[in-house]
Amino acid sequence: MSENATVVTEAHFRYLAERTTQEDAFLRDLRVSAAKAGIPPISIDPPQAAFLQILLRAAGAKRVVEVGTLAGYSAISMARALPPDGRVLTIEVDPKHAAFAKEWVARSDVAKKVAVHLGAGKDVLKTIPGGFADACFLDADKASYRLYLDECMRILRPGGLVMADNAFAFGQLLDRNPTDPDVPHVRAFNDHVPTVQGLQSVIVPLGDGLWVGVRT
Ligand SMILES: C[S@@+](CC[C@H](N)C(=O)[O-])C[C@H]1O[C@@H](n2cnc3c(N)ncnc32)[C@H](O)[C@@H]1O
Repeated sequence: MSENATVVTEAHFRYLAERTTQEDAFLRDLRVSAAKAGIPPISIDPPQAAFLQILLRAAGAKRVVEVGTLAGYSAISMARALPPDGRVLTIEVDPKHAAFAKEWVARSDVAKKVAVHLGAGKDVLKTIPGGFADACFLDADKASYRLYLDECMRILRPGGLVMADNAFAFGQLLDRNPTDPDVPHVRAFNDHVPTVQGLQSVIVPLGDGLWVGVRT
C-alpha cells in the first residue's frame, strides 16, 4: 500500500454513499418489488451505479453489453447514461429474472434503450459481432468471467470499457477459509486480468469491488 493511501472502512463506504447521487423512486421501487418477487438482493449498489454511469458518459458509450440482468437495475441505470440512440443488450439465463426485468424495463424511462436476452452468457456473447460494443459489464457466474472477458475483448472497440462486479468476492477475497465456492474463481480472475495483453485495468473499492478495464 502506498504511504498516502487510506484504508477504506465501512464508515467510508457509508460516507461516500451518502454523498453520491441518490437512486430515484423508480429504482427504489424496482428493488423493493424484486425482493417481494423472491429475486435475490444482489444488484449493484447506488454508488456503483453512479460510477458506471460516469464511466459510460466519459467514454461516450453508445452500445453496452451486460451479462447478468437480474431485475434490470444495472441495465436501466446504464441505459440512462447513454445518448438517445444508445442501447444496452443485457443477457440473463434465469427465465424468472429475465421476465421480471423485461416488465420493469418496459415501464421505465429507457424502455427503448434496453433489450433483455434470455440465454446463457457464453452462447449469446458468441453471436455478437466484433467491435460492436463501447462497453461490457460482467455481473453473472464468476466461473465464466475469463471466458466472458475473452469475448469482451473481441466485442469491444479499441478504447472500449470492460467492467466486472464482485472483485472482493462477496467480502471473502482475503479470507483463509472462504465459504463461498466462487471465491477461487474471483481470485483467479483478479490474478489473470493484469496479465491480459491490450488491457489496462484497476480494481475500484466500491460496493463488493468493481473491476474496470480499458481495451488499449
Ligand atoms: C448479481 S446478479 C446481476 C445483477 C445486475 N447486474 C444488477 O446489478 O442489477 C447475477 C445474475 O446473473 C445471472 N446469471 C448467472 N449465470 C448466468 C449465465 N451463465 N448467463 C447469463 N446470466 C447468468 C443470474 O441469474 C443473476 O440474475
